[in-house]
Amino acid sequence: MTTIIDGNAVAEEIRSGLTDAIDALEDAGVKPGLATVLMSDDPASQTYVSMKQRDCEEVGIEAFDYELDPDTPADELYSLVDDLNADDDVHGILVQMPVPDHVDDRTVLRRIDPAKDVDGFHPENVGRLVAGDARFKPCTPHGVQKLLASVDVETEGADVVVVGRSDIVGKPMANLLIQKADDGNATVTVCHSRTKDLAAKTREADIVVAAVGVPELITGDMLSEDTVVIDVGVNRVDADNEKGYKLVGDVEFDSAKEKASAITPVPGGVGPMTRAMLLWNTVKAAAEAEGVDVDLP
Ligand code: GUN
Repeated sequence: MTTIIDGNAVAEEIRSGLTDAIDALEDAGVKPGLATVLMSDDPASQTYVSMKQRDCEEVGIEAFDYELDPDTPADELYSLVDDLNADDDVHGILVQMPVPDHVDDRTVLRRIDPAKDVDGFHPENVGRLVAGDARFKPCTPHGVQKLLASVDVETEGADVVVVGRSDIVGKPMANLLIQKADDGNATVTVCHSRTKDLAAKTREADIVVAAVGVPELITGDMLSEDTVVIDVGVNRVDADNEKGYKLVGDVEFDSAKEKASAITPVPGGVGPMTRAMLLWNTVKAAAEAEGVDVDLP
């Protein structure tokens, strides 16, 4: 029997596990605050940001919502980030990626105060993660670790194939999994568009994490029996329905399910966890900034 890993349920556990920490902050007179900055007309980005804001409100985090027209000069975005860095009510700052071409994403990410960088994308935080001293684990890979733990999948000694080498998912995922830690200690192979024989690699894996942004790239015949499959992909493909599209992952779910011992669906797998771990990082940022001791789930 294949376990379908329920990301919504695990995310709900994380959210309710944050309640004690949020209450402890409230007792200390602190309301955690997250600023989201959206500079895009992309409907998917707009949806992600509004879901993040709704999540915040539901758990008792103040959401500060900034929308900039995509034609806004880059300097205006940088000075908004400067203002948010200086604002004591804002504990976390998230600039939704991608930003328009005239904005240099590296410059924006470096501008964010590393102590407020709840995405974990600032080079200081990337360096700390690689050095085994993470301040903020990037939300998606951290969520993947929580999902694996939720179904008692041990990463220690496991052969993990990460498909994709993005700064947001693939690289931090690989770095987290090789750490000397209970949710690390894996042997990790990172595959990407230049990998010679992807199927040969994925067939060797105990765990496959697909984060490459290619709809249904990983099919059942590329997996061995009893592989654990984590699908990070969220791809809109044309469909004959009211919306005109449907969401599919980077894994062809139906064929992969036949081989997998456990698999995440799309939607309802990794996506809700990314959002839950953003709340987690925001609460951590608030607790550290305000010097309040909290227990995190
Ligand atoms: N775009 C896609 N995923 C993410 C994310 O996790 N954080 C930000 N800031 N932008 C994204």
